[in-house]
Amino acid sequence: MAELNWDDLAFRYRKANVIIVSYYKDGQWSAPVATKDFDFHFSAFAGVFHYANACFEGLKAFRGVDGKVRLFRPDENAKRLQRSAAHLDMAAPSEEMFLNMCLMCVKENLDFLPPYGHNASMYLRPVLVGCNPQLGIASSTEVAFAVLGAPVGTYSGAAGLTPGTAVLSRNYDRAAPHGTGSYKIAANYATSLHPYNLAHKLGYRELLFLDPATHTKIDEFGSSNFLAIKGNTYVTPLSDSVLPSITNKTLQAVAADFGYKVEKRVVPVEELAEFEEVNACGTAVVITPICSVDDKETLEGNTITKTYRFGSPEHCGPVSEKFYKRIRGIQDGLEEDTHNWCVFL
Ligand SMILES: Cc1ncc(COP(=O)(O)O)c(C=O)c1O
Repeated sequence: MAELNWDDLAFRYRKANVIIVSYYKDGQWSAPVATKDFDFHFSAFAGVFHYANACFEGLKAFRGVDGKVRLFRPDENAKRLQRSAAHLDMAAPSEEMFLNMCLMCVKENLDFLPPYGHNASMYLRPVLVGCNPQLGIASSTEVAFAVLGAPVGTYSGAAGLTPGTAVLSRNYDRAAPHGTGSYKIAANYATSLHPYNLAHKLGYRELLFLDPATHTKIDEFGSSNFLAIKGNTYVTPLSDSVLPSITNKTLQAVAADFGYKVEKRVVPVEELAEFEEVNACGTAVVITPICSVDDKETLEGNTITKTYRFGSPEHCGPVSEKFYKRIRGIQDGLEEDTHNWCVFL
């Protein structure tokens, strides 16, 4: 095993043994190889550098209490990558190839897969980038697909489920109406970097984007979906500019298993006043409890027009915590995987 402090990994780059790479050219994928060379070698004229011909994924592998290694819902990531690549008009690996390369990445980097009991895992980052030289704006005809892996703990290094604050993004959008918000393409993240930096400088953990057409409805956080608990109901926004989060889909199934009503619908901003628990959800941490949302006229200005508060600033809400524990339990092999979400190494 690698000599790492498994309790203090946070969510940052750490070099493992190898990356897994395959190239697409003339209608064919090359056989995936495990390589110690972590650099891509292709032309500076590649589309990815100029026109953001790129999409990616994020998923996790866990070492369970029973010693078995589980990948969580990789089939969903494979399908989402195919959908993103199709929107960029680029080739994408088959579901089988995607899964095999993820399994290969975990196997070849097993020394870096955290042991059970540290709330840590291996984050897998499949990336698909256009690599043929080009000058005009065009979809890439040659593509590199790589699966990268790194051991990670909780996002900030803080204990899991520590509540954070959020602010509404009134004067920046992460996606356009009828744009690319529902695809996991690199360009979306470039768009949200500046407002995210502004929010972080102000001390907020999360930035909450509104629907870009009217700015009256909740969309999602910069890198996670929005979900709220209202009585016996799980509420999450229905919007075509939101990324279809696999964690959100999983939480919806768990909520239904626990007997909660699941509502995927338009969420007006003012409804924030009616929620008992609010969370950001995504692969990196499953959920981040949000204890308050400030409504500011602009991120740069000083005027906070309203603050919405949910539960305690110290603790995760009880319903959200129950859902979180069920998912983490399944990932760690502590709870029965009744939906067959896990794929074993
Ligand atoms: C914009 C955005 N929304 C939501 C999510 C959460 O998706 P998932 O649960 O599949 O990680 C992510 C992270 O992938 C994201 O980048």
